[in-house]
Amino acid sequence: MASFSKKTRIVVIGVGAVGSTTAYTLLLRERMDELVLIDANRAKAIGDALDMNHGLAFLGKAKVWAGDYKDCDRADIIIITAGVAQKPGESRVDLLKRNVAIFESITDQVLQFNKDGILLIASNPVDVMSFFTWKKSGWPWQRVIGSGTLLDTARFRFLIGENLAIDPRSVHAHIIGEHGDSELPVWSHANLAGSAIELSDEDKLNIFHSTRDAAYRIIETKGATYYAIALALDRICTAILKNEASVLNVSTLLNNYHGISDVYLGLPCIVDRSGVREVLKMNINETEQQLLHQSSDKIKNLIRSISM
Ligand SMILES: NC(=O)c1ccc[n+]([C@@H]2O[C@H](COP(=O)([O-])OP(=O)(O)OC[C@H]3O[C@@H](n4cnc5c(N)ncnc54)[C@H](O)[C@@H]3O)[C@@H](O)[C@H]2O)c1
Repeated sequence: MASFSKKTRIVVIGVGAVGSTTAYTLLLRERMDELVLIDANRAKAIGDALDMNHGLAFLGKAKVWAGDYKDCDRADIIIITAGVAQKPGESRVDLLKRNVAIFESITDQVLQFNKDGILLIASNPVDVMSFFTWKKSGWPWQRVIGSGTLLDTARFRFLIGENLAIDPRSVHAHIIGEHGDSELPVWSHANLAGSAIELSDEDKLNIFHSTRDAAYRIIETKGATYYAIALALDRICTAILKNEASVLNVSTLLNNYHGISDVYLGLPCIVDRSGVREVLKMNINETEQQLLHQSSDKIKNLIRSISM
């Protein structure tokens, strides 16, 4: 854990669309003293570091460089957004196996130099990658965190807010489960300062479908999503670095959560300097519990398919 004299350091591994936007967001918001960029494509990391350094004349003081794994040694947070895309004819499971192999190699290298930081995973499928990284690292689950359904929850709140003409920050509503197709909206606890959200069933369904399918829509238009996920990752880093104890829907290890264990899923968690301090047990209704079990089964099957 950082002492007062220590400089705050964040390492971003994988500075593609998500990683570079996240690094830039963290820089603009002056979240750290030192920002290290690592990528298999070293030229990209060097170019991004140069580009960001040239902006420092307009920003607060920070040091940004294209580094290597030994720079993880004094990192408070290591964000992993590395990944490879599907090859023609490659199955989703084979792609997943390749990405898990990349993560194993990244985790091995990080662990050589860092023993007490926090690993923050964004690469997809984020719940599976977080689970494997936790297993591989041998670190306490509290310090291996996935971005989970924080982005989906932000999209959900935005769409509810837009529908009701309310600031999304004032909407209390959660998406939980997988970050992906089997995620679920917790309508039973959606409210505005305790007063019920008045929407028709049809509006609710449309809002949920637009939330769940948002990434597909954005990828169809511009090939990747990166601004909102960068803000979500910045939000998690801030909760950690400022020891906020904020409630954020991150991906974490479940231990008898409505009967579900041994899987990572997105749930409201208290996030502070220790990582995930506590997973909050939402009093979800029976239908929501069934959907959460289905989501868990899906992630467990994926984990099994690549472990074979
Ligand atoms: N969790 C979320 O909510 C969320 C949102 C958007 C995207 N994502 C995921 O984030 C990941 C990155 O997306 P992107 O659009 O930035 O992809 P991208 O292809 O633009 O970037 C991936 C980067 O990883 C690098 N890389 C590959 N192998 C590496 C290795 N072994 N070591 C270091 N770097 C390596 C590549 O060189 C590339 O720069 C994807 O898995 C994507 O699905 C997650």
